[in-house]
Amino acid sequence: MFWMQYAFASKFMPTAATDQASQVNNLYSFLLISSFIACVILIGGMIYFAYKYKRQSLTAKSAYITHNTFLEFLWSFIPLVIFLVVFGWGWHIYHQMRQFPKDALEVHVTGKQWAWEATYKSGVRTANLVKVPIDTDVKIILASNDVIHSFYVPSFRIKQDAVPGRYTAVWFNANKLGDFHIFCTEYCGTQHSGMIGKLQVVSREEYDKWLEEEAKFSTLPIAQKGEKLFQIKACSGCHSVADASVKVGPSLFKKFGAKEELTSGDSTGVDENYLRESILNPNAKIVKGFASGVMPSFQGQLSEDELSAIIEYIKSAK
Ligand code: CUA
Repeated sequence: MFWMQYAFASKFMPTAATDQASQVNNLYSFLLISSFIACVILIGGMIYFAYKYKRQSLTAKSAYITHNTFLEFLWSFIPLVIFLVVFGWGWHIYHQMRQFPKDALEVHVTGKQWAWEATYKSGVRTANLVKVPIDTDVKIILASNDVIHSFYVPSFRIKQDAVPGRYTAVWFNANKLGDFHIFCTEYCGTQHSGMIGKLQVVSREEYDKWLEEEAKFSTLPIAQKGEKLFQIKACSGCHSVADASVKVGPSLFKKFGAKEELTSGDSTGVDENYLRESILNPNAKIVKGFASGVMPSFQGQLSEDELSAIIEYIKSAK
């Protein structure tokens, strides 16, 4: 059928990155095209007949027609058939979505105000990132820490509530590499709209390598973890830690426990809370000789664990 070949809806729907998403596109194309044809027949027919049979004069009388059994049967039966096709088709796709494949790769994903936390079988945990291999059945087991959230991946056409006190699940098999959005589609508080995650589909080799590296990372001593994060989050581009050289921002070498002169004329002791504030709200205190508004805030981009690790790394630079 022509709409299957051209998947009309795929022109304006989000990328379809699973086979089921393509099937949803096909059904959606069918709905749109059949609705369009019905609309043309109905509205076009109405306009045509209103014009053709308009009253010719004030005294003219129109034909007295009460009903037409055959026509009435047709305009009830044809839509019924179309609706049954749509129902059967939709049920077929839905059934596939709810039929969980055996031996799927399972990932626990927990919604909380306001982030998605993923936990892999090996113990690896990620925030707002679910990394999966391509062409693999993946089952996401959902839970919530607080209120109802909803796990939505538009490119996979899957959506499922994460409900506190019970597990729910979705599955998919991605057939395209790339980064796809995870949205929360259940209003869950002030930062609901910011509860955006990334679903990353990578090759099997890349996935295995990543999982291995992450597993190593999670058992690193806290300061070493901080050192890695310092690279990953690009802190190292602006701050030196190993020596006192000045880059874009002040060096952090031997800074912990020292005093820092500020542009305001005050001075401050460098302790954990000063470092925390400087990472989350960099413009609160500006070190003398440096400009305000240069460093971006890392508010919402670091978990408490990551923040502590970075601070421990800075503390270790002595
Ligand atoms: Cu979580 Cu909206």
